Amino acid sequence: MVLPFKKIKSKLKTTILQPEIIHFKSIDSTNKYLLDKHSYPNGTVVLADFQTAGRGRRQRIWQSPEAESLLFSIFLNENIQTIPLYLFTFLAAVSVYEGLLPFVPQKHLALKWPNDVLINGKKVCGILVETKTSANRITSIVIGIGININQNSEFFKGELKNASSLFCSKGCKFSRMEVFSSVLISIDKNLTELNQRVYTDVLAKWKNYCPYFGGKIKVDDNKNIYEGIFKDISQNGGLILETDGKEKIFYAADVSIIKENRNL
Ligand code: BTN
Repeated sequence: MVLPFKKIKSKLKTTILQPEIIHFKSIDSTNKYLLDKHSYPNGTVVLADFQTAGRGRRQRIWQSPEAESLLFSIFLNENIQTIPLYLFTFLAAVSVYEGLLPFVPQKHLALKWPNDVLINGKKVCGILVETKTSANRITSIVIGIGININQNSEFFKGELKNASSLFCSKGCKFSRMEVFSSVLISIDKNLTELNQRVYTDVLAKWKNYCPYFGGKIKVDDNKNIYEGIFKDISQNGGLILETDGKEKIFYAADVSIIKENRNL
C-alpha cells in the first residue's frame, strides 16, 4: 500500500530540480508514479524508502531492502524536445558518478554502457529513463535512479552477484541523505548545462569516466551474444563494437567486460 507522502524541503540550492522532494515510505515504483499522473512541475523529484514493483532496464525488476538504498525519479517536461533522449541517460550516469566522488575514490568508479555506475567493477547504480508521448512527441521524461548504499553482502547473491553497494565496497555505512544531496546537486548542474545546449560536455564526460574503450567486451542484445572490441559511442548514443572485422552498433543490450584496456 502506498502511504501518504510527505514533502522533504531540501536545503539544496537548485536551478532546475524542485526544492521540495516528494518522499514515500513505500510505493510501487517512483518511475511509475511520475508517469501515471498527468503532470508535475518540471524538476519534480520523488524518493522512496521501498519499492514494491521497482522497474529495471529490459523489463527486469529492481529490488532493495527498505531504507538501504536511494530509489528516486526525476520528472522533466521543459526544454526536452530538442535534446536527444540518450543524452538524458548519459547525463544521469555522469551525474551519479560525479555525485559519488566525495565518497568513493575516482580510481574505483567507472561507467559502463549505457548507464551503469560501477565501483571496483560491480554495479552500484542502475538508471531507467522512461518517456510519456503524445502524437509521437515526447511530452515528458522520467529519469529513475537506484543507488545501492547500505545493503550488506548477503543481498548480492545469485543473479545479483555482479552488483554491490557503497557499504560493501568501502566497508562503512553511509548517510543516504548525504549521498542523495551530492547526486542531486550534480544532476542539477549537468541539467542546467544541457539546457544551455552544452551537449558535448555530457558525452565527453561520459567517455572520460568509462575505462573500457579499446577493451574486449561481450554484448547481449537479447537475440545474440557478440564478442569484440568496444570502439566508441555513436553520435546517437549507440555502442560501437568491432566484431569479425566489422563495426556493429547497439542501442539496447547488456554489456559485460571481458578484458579492460586501462593501460592504453
Ligand atoms: C537498471 O535496470 O539498471 C535500472 C534500474 C533503475 C531502478 C530505479 S529505482 C528508482 C526508479 N524507480 C523504478 O521503478 N526504477 C528506477
